[in-house]
This record gives sequence, structure tokens and C-alpha cells, in this order.
Amino acid sequence: MKMIGVVGARPNFMKMAALLNAVDAHNKQKKEPKISSLLVHTGQHYDEKMSDIFFRMLQIPSPDINLEVGSGSHAVQTAEIMKKFEPVLLEHRPDLVVVVGDVNSTIACALVAAKLGIKVAHVEAGLRSFDRTMPEEINRVLTDAISDLLLTSERGAEENLLKEGIAKEKIYFVGNTMIDTLLKHKRNADQSKILSQLGCVEKEYAVLTLHRPSNVDDPALLKEIFGALNEITKKIKVVFPIHPRTKKEIERNGIALSEKIVLCEPLGYLDFLKLVSSARFVLTDSGGIQEETTVLGVPCLTIRENTERPSTLTDGTNTLVGTDREKIVKESFAILNGATRAHRLPELWDGKAGERVIDVLTRYFSK
Ligand code: UD1
Repeated sequence: MKMIGVVGARPNFMKMAALLNAVDAHNKQKKEPKISSLLVHTGQHYDEKMSDIFFRMLQIPSPDINLEVGSGSHAVQTAEIMKKFEPVLLEHRPDLVVVVGDVNSTIACALVAAKLGIKVAHVEAGLRSFDRTMPEEINRVLTDAISDLLLTSERGAEENLLKEGIAKEKIYFVGNTMIDTLLKHKRNADQSKILSQLGCVEKEYAVLTLHRPSNVDDPALLKEIFGALNEITKKIKVVFPIHPRTKKEIERNGIALSEKIVLCEPLGYLDFLKLVSSARFVLTDSGGIQEETTVLGVPCLTIRENTERPSTLTDGTNTLVGTDREKIVKESFAILNGATRAHRLPELWDGKAGERVIDVLTRYFSK
């Protein structure tokens, strides 16, 4: 079975690492069919700290092919990926293309493969925010519509897919590959020296990540969010590994940040894991971090009106606070005042999702 795995942006790397580990284990155990895999990086993320560092830390082999598309508008970026991915498929003719997550690289490569009649497997299928102003939601809906195998990370995803008319036989609940990688590296991450490097003491700081265009490209909203943060820093220090896009917008709009916001470059995987697991709480608009905090048992306030990952709300430690200044401050202070809540691991977030994905794929191709 010849497969091509696709990565493009930061959150893809952790998911693909779990799959590549499972492919290795499958081949080492001499299970049939033997899998040969090629890794394609579209180059959507290209900064050392947004990309290369993850390959080293997660011990993923360097990509076999890098399409080097870089940044651009959605149309330009998606089109560039498609133009450069098509010749790769024509040359290598894989049986299967595996895409993960919901970034532009995901839909671009799924679409090229589907049109060439190559089977597509989508890992992390069926997540829905029901908010079509989010580019990722468009990417999710479209990728799922053209995939042959839909591998879901949480129970509710299947229902979303069935409602969109996707046949039940295509859907497999396998669990969360991002959590495989977290559980595998947690011990290693504990050795990270990031706390002392940033002058932080366990549980005496919060972590912020913010990069969604809907939050950072609107100057009024960005001011509102940092108004809340400056208020929060009166009670606790906030560490902010800053995404390149957000950095540009803060500088462009001259937004004043409190001195107690500790800015740093985007962190590598192990440092970030350590930083989050030792934090008092996390403020974020990321998708994956909502899941990681749930597993680490760290309270998470999500600066969005909705989430495509509802199990982090029902089972986990996540609360949606939207972008309203007062609400963000109120929920942060509640945590600082000792508010706690019961939480548990969502179903099948057990470190074995990658294995289950490979099992599904090989059974499919053995038929
Ligand atoms: C992308 C994903 C988003 C994911 C995020 C993780 C889409 C539509 N969005 O958003 O779902 O949560 O990755 O980070 O695919 N830039 C750099 N260096 C880089 C990469 C980006 O400077 O290595 C800057 C560029 O100015 C670029 C901007 O960041 O224009 C945005 O990058 P892009 O890949 O378009 O989207 P993200 O906001 O990173």
C-alpha cells in the first residue's frame, strides 16, 4: 500500500507524527499489506519556529518533498498547493493520500487527489463549528465531502457527517492523533527548561495564544482582547508566544501591551507542552490547544464564540468566553479565585488513535 501523507501548517505536524509512528510499528511487526509512505510538506508554514523545529522535536523524518508554497491569500495559497501537488501524484501514483486537520493544505491536496481518482483519507473528519465565516470550516466541510475514509476524533463528529449525507460505511471513530503525540512526549517535555528561561514559576502565570484572522485582523477587536489581557495581568503574568501574523497586526495597530505580558517567539513542541501543563490557565483561539488543555487538566478559556471540538466543553476543561472584554476578565478571575470543575478524558483519547487509523486503512486496502 503506497500512501502519501500531507502536512502544511503547524498543527498538522503532531497529527502526522502519530500516523508515521503507527506506520513504522505496522511495518516492523511485518503486518500485511506493507506500507510505503512518502511525506509531502506543502510549505504553508515555513519559518524555522513554525515548522522545522517540530520535525526535530517530534523525530519525524524530514519531508520527502517540499512544495515551498509559502504565504498568500487563500485563493493564491490553495491554488499554488494544488498546482504543485498534482505533478507529485502523477509521478508517484499512490493508492492513498492522507490529509489531516482543516488548513488550506488539507483541502488543496484532498481536491487534487480526488480528481485524479486517488483515494483520500481525512484524519480529524466531521468537526464542525457551524460557522462558515471561518476558513477552516469551509476546508472541513469540503474535505469531508470528497474523502473516501473519514476518521473521526470525537464521538459527535459522526452525526455531523451523517447529516451532510456522508455514508456511514465511510466513517470510522478512531480517537485523537494529536493526543497520541502529547502522551508520547509528555515525559520528555517535563525536562524542558522553558519556565526558568522565561522567568516563570509553576501555576503563577497564564498562557495566551492568538492568531485567528477573525480576532487579530480586526483592530477594534484586537484592542478589546488586549484590553482584557491588560486587566488580567494586574493579577497574573501572561506568557504570549506570538504568531507572526499577530505580531504584524499588533505592531501595525500600535496596540499597547502591559509589561506583565511576556512576549516570546513561537515555541517548539516540548517547550510549549511544558509551558501549558504548568500554567494556571490558558487563553487561546487555537483548535488544538483546546484539546491539549483538556488532556493536561489545565483550565482553558477559548476566545471564540464557538468551537468545533465540543467534547472539550462537555468532558474537558474548556470554556467559550468569546471576545467580550468583561467576560474574558470575569472567567479569568473566577479561575484565579479557585473555581474548579470536574473533567475527564474524551473517549479514545488514549494514545492509540494512530494505530487505529493505520488499522482502518490497511483493512480497507486488503478488501
Ligand atoms: C493556519 C491555518 C489555521 C491554523 C494555523 C496554525 C488555514 C486557513 N489556517 O493559519 O487553521 O490554526 O495555521 O498556526 O490554513 N507566516 C509567517 N511564517 C510562517 C507562516 C505564516 O510569517 O511560517 C505569516 C505570514 O504573514 C502569513 C500569515 O502568517 O501570511 C498567515 O499564515 P497562513 O498559513 O496563511 O495562516 P495561519 O494564520 O498561520
